[in-house]
Amino acid sequence: RPNSRGYDLHSLDDIAEMDAARSPFKTTTWTAAPLTVTPAMGGGTWQVTNPANPEDHVGTVTLASAQDVATAAAKAAPWAVPAQERGKALNKVADLYEANFGAFFALLTREAGKTPRDAIAEVREAVDFLRYYAARAQEAQAGPRGTVGCISPWNFPLAIFTGQIAAALGAGNAVLAKPAESTGLIAHRAVQLMLEAGVPQSAIQLLPGEGGTVGAALSVAPLDAMCFTGSVATAQRINRAMAEHMRPDVPLVAETGGLNAMIVDSTALPEQAVRDIIASSFQSAGQRCSALRVLYLQEDIAPAFLDMLYGAMDELVVGDPWDYRSDLGPVIDSAAKAKITAHIEAAKSDGRLLKRLAVPATGHFVGPAVIQVGGIEDLAEEIFGPVLHIATFAAEEIDSITDAINASGYGLTFGIHSRIDDRIEQVTQRLKVGNIYVNRNQIGAVVGSQPFGGEGLSGTGPKAGGPHYLAHFTGGESKQIEG
Ligand code: NAD
Ligand code: ALA
Repeated sequence: RPNSRGYDLHSLDDIAEMDAARSPFKTTTWTAAPLTVTPAMGGGTWQVTNPANPEDHVGTVTLASAQDVATAAAKAAPWAVPAQERGKALNKVADLYEANFGAFFALLTREAGKTPRDAIAEVREAVDFLRYYAARAQEAQAGPRGTVGCISPWNFPLAIFTGQIAAALGAGNAVLAKPAESTGLIAHRAVQLMLEAGVPQSAIQLLPGEGGTVGAALSVAPLDAMCFTGSVATAQRINRAMAEHMRPDVPLVAETGGLNAMIVDSTALPEQAVRDIIASSFQSAGQRCSALRVLYLQEDIAPAFLDMLYGAMDELVVGDPWDYRSDLGPVIDSAAKAKITAHIEAAKSDGRLLKRLAVPATGHFVGPAVIQVGGIEDLAEEIFGPVLHIATFAAEEIDSITDAINASGYGLTFGIHSRIDDRIEQVTQRLKVGNIYVNRNQIGAVVGSQPFGGEGLSGTGPKAGGPHYLAHFTGGESKQIEG
């Protein structure tokens, strides 16, 4: 410590220092006032409550209306200063994020339900995005597009929110940023720091609001590019709205969901594979686009392997994410809990529920669960929570499994645990997937060294945190999402 990820949880000194940073914010009630060029917004308010404890009122966010989106778009102006100056300001934003570590750490826990490990990694990832795009901005060859809409999800309310904006601003654009409904307070703090670092208000305007109003209004606003991260269904909705209302040359950079698989064959090291499966499926309560959803386990090793997996699951602590001992916090809200629980209950009534952990009685907690399936084709959509689906296979079925994964239409992450080099080569060459992980977990792509992005239904193919990402926000080329 500090390494590229900053603090880690390896010493009691670290924990004491981090606790001191976040504890002043344990009971703070936040207010997110408008951060637009025209400072009145007419979309009402959103009350933020802690997903682990709905009685903890975290704050109030003033929302934009569809009319505010049009006003903000009319007042947006590209950040017309030399690239070096933009890079310097983005690095200053990164410094301010680090100086505000405690507030972000507390907000990520109380607003988004993140455990200490996830919250710390997220602040670091946001800082990495800022510094990485600051450096790329200074190499950019082409000019800005103009005004970019940035619509982001709640599951990385600081890192993805910041990454989209930093890339678009780094290229010299103006940004209209719409955070997810549930995480407007974190977004507000982030934009305040961007303004404090010298980004002009005409270049960064925050438009909190519901997807169906503010998001929909942004999709038909006179923008020059749209950057979206979230579900496939929303990406398709935005793509259709843009096609109907905007010029066909306005690019959509979309990063969406996945039905991510892992193959574990009989030569894998079981202790290592179990550890990586637990992290890939259950870390962040399974609320990562990259998370493992379908495990293919070679049948010869399945009984002993599953005993080990269930034993490791029994060691997981599901509980208050403020507590350092918790491995998993809650899911984001009651609707998410109801949807995931209904999926688990349906499996239970079909006799396919293999394992499920208990959870605290209050808060939006879902116990990690394991469900038996025949293969990826049994899943109609991404289940965005701590649910692992398992299928067994015989060695001769490897090619048909890879074909089934490709046939799902998704292509975000994939993992393989094997000690047969030819098999790894055979499978990874055949798969159409954005990020492939060999003999390790399949989450937590590192900015600058593991550019992240999917294929097919999982996205239009830009790699966030990679050397070509910024070009999507200059005069460079782009693709449209399928569907
Ligand atoms: P979501 O699609 O429901 O919402 C994402 C954003 O879109 C939010 O800001 C929301 O308000 C907005 N939105 C909703 N309806 C809209 C509309 N009609 N028009 C415009 N905007 C609208 O997704 P979510 O639940 O916030 O996030 C979880 C999803 O995001 C999962 O599917 C996950 O896999 C995906 N995700 C993908 C990546 C990636 O890099 N590929 C990263 C994180 C999350
Ligand atoms: N970039 C995030 C991960 O790799 C989504 O898990």
